[in-house]
Amino acid sequence: MNTNGSALLLDDIEKASIDELRALQLQRLKWSIGHTYQNVRLYRMKCDAVGVHPDDLRELADLRHFPFSVKQDFRDGYPFGMFAVPIDKVSRIHASSGTTGKAAVVGYTAKDLDNWASIVARCLRAAGARPGDIVHNAFNYGLFTGGMGSHYGAEKLGCTVIPVSGGQTERHARLLVDLQPHFIMVTPSYLLNIIDEVERQGIDPADLALRVALVGAEPWTEAMRRQINMRLSIRALDYYGISEVMGPGVASECIETEDGPTLWEDHFYPEVVDPGTGEVLPEGSEGELVLTSLTKEALPVIRYRTRDLTRLLPGTARTMRRLARLSGRSDDMLIIRGVNVFPSQIEEQVLTIADLSGHYQIEVTREGTLDCLTVHVEACPGATADRERVSAELARKIKTFVGISTVIKVGEPGTIERSQGKAIRTIDRRTLV
Ligand code: DLL
Repeated sequence: MNTNGSALLLDDIEKASIDELRALQLQRLKWSIGHTYQNVRLYRMKCDAVGVHPDDLRELADLRHFPFSVKQDFRDGYPFGMFAVPIDKVSRIHASSGTTGKAAVVGYTAKDLDNWASIVARCLRAAGARPGDIVHNAFNYGLFTGGMGSHYGAEKLGCTVIPVSGGQTERHARLLVDLQPHFIMVTPSYLLNIIDEVERQGIDPADLALRVALVGAEPWTEAMRRQINMRLSIRALDYYGISEVMGPGVASECIETEDGPTLWEDHFYPEVVDPGTGEVLPEGSEGELVLTSLTKEALPVIRYRTRDLTRLLPGTARTMRRLARLSGRSDDMLIIRGVNVFPSQIEEQVLTIADLSGHYQIEVTREGTLDCLTVHVEACPGATADRERVSAELARKIKTFVGISTVIKVGEPGTIERSQGKAIRTIDRRTLV
């Protein structure tokens, strides 16, 4: 499929017309639904219960008649109940982060691993990477899909990979200087941690070869992008994925447009549904992203409810559609005195204040019948501004732009717990009592 000799180095399908893309999707969707129905008992039972059969899929729009898959299915089928091939055909296992309840176990055949690597290679290439570039991979290795998924994609593109993983932040800063990587793959919260360390060690960004960061695995904001770009003199691009659907690389931003991650639609078919009713929403509406895998053998997923809230946007750099920046997961949304709040909205405001470090944590408590939100932030090293003035300014901005009253606590530099991967943004003490 690769046309690596051509000037743009794109896969043929990245240059296909919408009609060609839709035809390929329909053909692959028929295969994927048939394969799942035949081999995953749990999903077949769901289809039988509502009386749909793979033969009912004649056009892409018919997908809406098929049942959803949800995280609970992975729990019900734990560990291998969602697999469509016998375990001896599975080359590798990963698991989703599983912060609540049992982790979802996911598996890949040798062919799935090859496809995954090609897709991640495509993400890197869309970010401007070329064979011979050096990639610093700061995603955690292990059961988490971020580390190995990104690693094999970078190798597949022909890059040199530095498999640093998360943690030992001082060493990250050192390696950025000594090994001169051109790309870094990392979560936004951990990148902020690395940037602090680079500055603490007195490293001049001009002495680094870094050009681009592929940033993902947790929500982040345009304000965070500006901060990363400015402090490291690089371009940060949005890199999206989810374990149950594959892992990193489901969608990724193209450097020439930097306007939201392009969803690699030849492998994943998107829908956006109303999170309450499950109805498919008109193109462009905000709702929950639902993904169907088109090529996966070991763990095909049909209409998987990601809980990620976004919009589908028309293609720009590619024919394939893009995702608008994720506002957050429906399960991360806090309802404070009737107002819906995502941690990313708080982040946007924290990052507007130059005297604050950008690290933050939100604590929710209940006082009597009222929910109370405290935002813990910390002063930048060397910041001289009056703490009371800073906290009043942040409270005012959150009240104006997010619409809620908050208590702001400004701590000393380094007092907010540092992320080594995915940050824990919210501590909800209402559920802890
Ligand atoms: O986080 C896979 C991944 C690894 C993606 C490395 C990107 C880079 P999970 O642990 O299953 O898989 O978590 C998936 O993370 O549903 C989103 O809520 C969130 N997420 C992932 N990428 C982004 C992003 C990996 N670019 C969950 N922006 C997803 C916002 C993201 N949220």
